Amino acid sequence: MIIAIVLILSLIINIGKTTVINAVAFSMNGGNLLYSPFASEFNNYSLNNNLNITLNLNLFSSLNATSLVTDYETMLESLFQKKSNKYDLIFYDNIYSTKFGPYLLDLKKIIPEDHLDMYLSGVAQQTCFYKDELVGLPMVIDFDVLYINKEKLRTYNRTIPETWDELITTSQYILNEELKLNNTNFVPYNGLFSTLEVGICSLYEFIYSFRKSKESPFPEITSQEVVDALYKMKEMKEKIGSDIIFKSNEDFTAKKFSDSNFLFLKYWYLPVLTKTLDISPLPGIKKGISGSVIGGHNIGINMYSNIQKRNAVIEAFKFLTSKEMHKKYIAKNNYLTPISSLYDEDEVCKVVNCDFFKSIQLIGRPVTKSDDYIKYADNFKKNVYEFLYGNK
Ligand SMILES: *[C@@H]1O[C@H](CO)[C@@H](O)[C@H](O)[C@H]1NC(C)=O
Ligand SMILES: *[C@@H]1O[C@H](CO)[C@@H](O)[C@H](O)[C@H]1NC(C)=O
Ligand SMILES: *[C@@H]1O[C@H](CO)[C@@H](O)[C@H](O)[C@H]1NC(C)=O
Ligand SMILES: *[C@@H]1O[C@H](CO)[C@@H](O)[C@H](O)[C@H]1NC(C)=O
Ligand SMILES: *[C@@H]1O[C@H](CO)[C@@H](O)[C@H](O)[C@H]1NC(C)=O
Repeated sequence: MIIAIVLILSLIINIGKTTVINAVAFSMNGGNLLYSPFASEFNNYSLNNNLNITLNLNLFSSLNATSLVTDYETMLESLFQKKSNKYDLIFYDNIYSTKFGPYLLDLKKIIPEDHLDMYLSGVAQQTCFYKDELVGLPMVIDFDVLYINKEKLRTYNRTIPETWDELITTSQYILNEELKLNNTNFVPYNGLFSTLEVGICSLYEFIYSFRKSKESPFPEITSQEVVDALYKMKEMKEKIGSDIIFKSNEDFTAKKFSDSNFLFLKYWYLPVLTKTLDISPLPGIKKGISGSVIGGHNIGINMYSNIQKRNAVIEAFKFLTSKEMHKKYIAKNNYLTPISSLYDEDEVCKVVNCDFFKSIQLIGRPVTKSDDYIKYADNFKKNVYEFLYGNK
């Protein structure tokens, strides 16, 4: 009897009680400007609809998680290992879908199919699966483009290259002209073939741009396409680059952006940079073929999240990954949205260049080739760089 009363009482108390759910994210990445407005939108929506759910955003910055992304990931890993329910919604770099997959809920079991279908025809296929479980949905997609110094192109009356050979010819010509003017710091091209994580991105997309047709998959490692790609890379280093320039990392790119003494630079697509610089898809072996590696973040649900909060968590998850939020904050803000159908909507195409976003040919990194992606990537880079920078 007493137990029954207590149960009924607690039921009554729980009605109207606010459920607090916690999301965790790292501020030093491409989505950093979006997390807070997303959370704020949800809380307004919750308030206006009497959902009684509050979403708390725990945003780690470089101050409290130190500057390297891996520290954020290390923190997540240790929470998962402790089966912690501290955070319900987890934003994580999509290269970690395999690593964190075992600790994230399979969305196919809890999120309605029509919601997931918005994503499953697109890039989510490449970045959100752990075995056959869907362990996240993509938020912003980061990708690489060719940044172009249009003043120089105009000065020398040249056009934007669509193939690697065109890029070499144009670069060689303008480099020579600039040297005649004693411009010894001029950099005609850099593709970030560095030893850092960006190196594997550069290698993967470069090789992908050598596939036979737009529809072909990533070439087999032992294929002629890979051999051709590696020789072209070396030819480019010899004709329009150097070991020092090719090995440099993003700091060097930032320096060239600020001194403007360059022609072409491969770098992550950032809407803010496109205000002053021209961009185009990266060239390929022939016109119409290109490649751009996939970066960015997923949002997943912690499998240790308190089951009593489950409905609230699902509610928030659906809101944050809704088409409306993607349209308002991602597509219309000139970011690449993983909901590709948005690029068929007039409302979006009135404000952004839908054809450009549709033309990007995305390729995922080899994150599922091994249990230890970082080790696999290091090995891959080492083998290619022995050829590129060695005497072979
Ligand atoms: C939220 O709480 C109010 C009372 O505080 C209640 O009337 C309402 O039904 C609750 N909403 C939900 C979705 O439980
Ligand atoms: C949420 O509501 C508050 C108060 O009405 C408002 O100041 C804020 O701009 C809203 N946030 C968003 C993202 O709409
Ligand atoms: C990290 O530090 C910032 C600035 O001190 C603070 O606003 C934020 O709440 C901290 N984040 C977490 C998750 O502790
Ligand atoms: C620029 O190049 C185009 C085609 O390559 C040529 O037709 C045109 O005459 C050139 N313009 C100048 C000013 O040299
Ligand atoms: C480049 O430097 C050389 C040697 O210092 C000089 O003779 C030449 O006039 C310079 N050319 C230009 C275009 O400034």
